[in-house]
Amino acid sequence: MTSAPSSTCARCGEDNPAHARFCLGCGTPVIAAGGEGESRRTVTVVFVDVVGSTALGESTDAETVREMLLGYFAVARQALVAHGGTVEKFIGDAVMAVFGVPVLHEDDALRAVRAAVEIRDAVRGLDGELRERYGRGLLVRIGVATGEVTTGDRSTPTLVTGDVANLAARLEQAAGPAQVLIAPATYTLVQHAVGARQAGALSLKGKAEPVVPWAVGSVLPIETGPPRRFAPAFVGRATERAVLDKALKQARAGRPQLVTLIGEPGAGKSALVRDAAGRWADEVACWSMRCQAYGESSGFEPVARLLRTLAAADGAEPTAALRGLLPAGPDREAVVAGVVALAGLAPPNPTAPNGAWAVEWLLRSVARQRPLVIAVDDVQWASDPMLDLIAGAVSSEERLPLLVLATARPEFVTRRPGWAAPGDGRTPLRLGPLPEPDANELLSHLLGGPALPDRARDRLLAAAHGNPLFLEETLGMLADDGLLARGSGSWELTGELTDVPLPRSVAALVAARLDLLAPGDREVLQHTSVLGVRCERAALVALLPPARRQEVEACLARLDEADLLHAELVGPGEAAEPVLSFHHQVVRDVVYAAVTKRRRIVMHAAAADVLARNGAGVERGSAASGLMPGVVEAQQAQAAHHLEQSVLLATELGPLRATDRARAGDAVHLLVGLSRQVGARGETAATADLLRRASRLLPTGDAQLPRVLAELGSSLVDAGQYDAAAAVLTEAQGSAQDRQDHTAAATAELAGLWLAAARDPSGWALRAEPAAHTALSAFSRAGDDGGRARAWAVLAEVAFLQCRIADCKQAVQRASRFARRAGNVREEAQNAGVLALTALVGPLPTEAALRRCRRMLTTYRDNPFVQGRVLTVLGVLLATTGDGAAAQAALASSIERLESLGQPVLTALAWEALGHAEDLLGDAPAATRALRRSLHDLDAVGEVQQAGWARCSVRPTRTRRPSSSPAPGLPRQWRTATPRHAGGCRTRVQRFRGRPVPPLGAPTRYWHCWGTATP
Ligand SMILES: Nc1ncnc2c1ncn2[C@@H]1O[C@H](COP(=O)(O)OP(=O)(O)OP(=O)(O)O)[C@@H](O)[C@H]1O
Ligand SMILES: [Mg+2]
Repeated sequence: MTSAPSSTCARCGEDNPAHARFCLGCGTPVIAAGGEGESRRTVTVVFVDVVGSTALGESTDAETVREMLLGYFAVARQALVAHGGTVEKFIGDAVMAVFGVPVLHEDDALRAVRAAVEIRDAVRGLDGELRERYGRGLLVRIGVATGEVTTGDRSTPTLVTGDVANLAARLEQAAGPAQVLIAPATYTLVQHAVGARQAGALSLKGKAEPVVPWAVGSVLPIETGPPRRFAPAFVGRATERAVLDKALKQARAGRPQLVTLIGEPGAGKSALVRDAAGRWADEVACWSMRCQAYGESSGFEPVARLLRTLAAADGAEPTAALRGLLPAGPDREAVVAGVVALAGLAPPNPTAPNGAWAVEWLLRSVARQRPLVIAVDDVQWASDPMLDLIAGAVSSEERLPLLVLATARPEFVTRRPGWAAPGDGRTPLRLGPLPEPDANELLSHLLGGPALPDRARDRLLAAAHGNPLFLEETLGMLADDGLLARGSGSWELTGELTDVPLPRSVAALVAARLDLLAPGDREVLQHTSVLGVRCERAALVALLPPARRQEVEACLARLDEADLLHAELVGPGEAAEPVLSFHHQVVRDVVYAAVTKRRRIVMHAAAADVLARNGAGVERGSAASGLMPGVVEAQQAQAAHHLEQSVLLATELGPLRATDRARAGDAVHLLVGLSRQVGARGETAATADLLRRASRLLPTGDAQLPRVLAELGSSLVDAGQYDAAAAVLTEAQGSAQDRQDHTAAATAELAGLWLAAARDPSGWALRAEPAAHTALSAFSRAGDDGGRARAWAVLAEVAFLQCRIADCKQAVQRASRFARRAGNVREEAQNAGVLALTALVGPLPTEAALRRCRRMLTTYRDNPFVQGRVLTVLGVLLATTGDGAAAQAALASSIERLESLGQPVLTALAWEALGHAEDLLGDAPAATRALRRSLHDLDAVGEVQQAGWARCSVRPTRTRRPSSSPAPGLPRQWRTATPRHAGGCRTRVQRFRGRPVPPLGAPTRYWHCWGTATP
């Protein structure tokens, strides 16, 4: 396998010498496979420009213009910076700012829109002043757009490149005076917080679809908190409610309590606090504060807001209202003065007492009068003095009915480790995912009824993984995309929900948390994300650059505490291995998406290399690597995945380099090898998937392509995907012709015959026989034993259909011999299945047939495909002996195995066999049910041949038609083109009914063994 040198450039993929510090290809500092360099992130860009500045310059003195513009620049910069934006450049009179660099915030889009609206309104004010003074004003127009960009790391300039900056500029140009136009992607993220209307569509250069922006009128202030789209009824959380109730009880008994609810964004911390406050409303006073991520003028602003609300509560004069909360006493006026000053309700007064002291005093004295609950939301954003104030209030020696409910994101625990340490009236309460039944109930509330099909519900629940906000945002996104629509009172799905994409809002939440991590921790997380949502710790360590390995322990502990990555021991006793799993698939996806594609290419290749060193190399078998075959196969599958990802990512970036092509070759080698292994077990869907992936990696004209396509076509036929099979086989034939690859052409030809047998069986045997002989010659000339096996398998089927059972058996045995010689287990297994069938329909006496089947079950004990096939036959044989229980058990097991292998046609045949068995056993309704099921499944995949048989079996059973007339339901062409088959069917049906077999001409021994077994 190719190895990925540690000095491969993460920017351009150049393979540099190991000692190179700068890339020979592009001059970028070389970052080892592990190093953190550029990242991908979603940012929001704001573009502001002055309306008609050229005309202004012509008509107004330069000094006045300068004064006007400086005023505008100051206003713009101040608003942008206050909301956390980075002013990137001033271009003439235009200002461009980016939200999301150098640090991401979960609400960057909303911050940007707030800043834009603030600039617009402030400049409007400025415009008024200027008009009064100079008779000329100044207005701006603003464009805002959100999108993914690549940025340098924090040590390099934050140059933002990508479509998003152009779009913001175009929106700005299209906006009218004092208008803010925002892009649709931005609107999606802020829609619940803005008043906006759609503006006219814009055609943009290089974009096929016009963009329809939104003109923003107003935006909710920061103080309103994060906007939530839904307000569902509260569900579940019984254990957590009980913890809160207990804490309240203890507080009421005079022991002040601090409960801190810790959980990822959207887990439901605030909802749980709201629920508790609602339930306790009659017994306690409840005051709420919310800490903000930004925009607070002082560290005590959350308290100040609360005080202002209390002061305004009953319409009294503010100071009097606050005074009314306190009992009369010597400290009252001092406390009021301190509180009023802290709340900003009076002009600054240097003689006022310390505000924090006054607030703590206020809280205690209120609690002395009535049990008091203080809810403090989002303490991760609280200042240290604010946290000290809260902690001080509850750690008083005094007996007080005071309960503080704080909510925090997991990273807060690292910031204040002692805050939520249990004991001394403090209780940390971790809020995990909502259990499935509760999440399901929440989903019903959100939808307004159980309107979704089970599969879609399961998909949604799995994607949200118990996070209520993720569930809400996902539904919101589906509604925005039109996949959910309001039905009569509830939401209904308008199409199939095949996969659930990640809502932008959720991605933004997670990305912002990740941006807070130390670079080393983030790097470990990024490597883990390349390995998947779960991986062995050893694999991660092997993938990390040596410098990082020493700190991995501490790093994983921090990531665990931050609820991002958890470790557990998996496996029995001492052999247990530490396995790492992301807290949530979403976390993994967001981490992975932030890694640049160039780095992902290198990291995936390095992961494949680690696996190869562990024994996943194609040429290394289980014996050489000392690993179990199953483990080797799993590792090979992973190695193939990593190589494949590396190549596909490289394809997205431009023409493949030699290294990429070598990796593609390795990946194809592994994928084709794996397809043979899973094919041998009869896993057709998986086989087709592997071959399809291999074919995607092969360039047109590659020598391997015809063969891979022919095999893919063949497995698609087995999987019952007939349309796809037909398309691939046509492509295979074309590609085989181009490369003059006769054996691939013959392979495709044979697969085409099986396809015709399923879809167009009329006269099939007559067409198939000469075609199979031609293919056989091509394979013989090339010495291709696997091909010969396949050709003999077709000839066996021809003989079977012509009721030449002895010939059939001989052909099968030949096919098996060649398959064994070629080491083609898949073909051998297929033949074993047919061989079992000859035991049923051939002249073999029942006892001998049973013995053959049992022998095969032992021989192929490790092959679920052969087991499934043999059990189909065994079940019917057992039914002919009258052993109903054994027959049903064998057939149930057969159905289960074949179904789990993704073998729709063979599963349908097992259902059909069950129908016959039930009929033999005398249970006509059960027989009809099973036969109908078979027919239904065959019809579902568009299979015609077997369906014809099933159809003519099901009708007589149901209607008890006289058997002398031709079996109804048999396709016309069957009756005319292959009368023998019709005869066979009729014979079979009559045999089930216990009637004598009428003479039908040639193939009278077709159902011989059943004749010998039934009484
Ligand atoms: N148990 C629940 N029953 C019903 N709805 C819930 C429940 N828990 C959470 N929700 C809903 O899920 C959404 C997110 O919950 P909430 O805002 O409480 O999360 P949070 O943990 O406080 O997140 P953040 O850390 O971002 O503040 C809200 O709309 C809330 O109403
Ligand atoms: Mg919250």
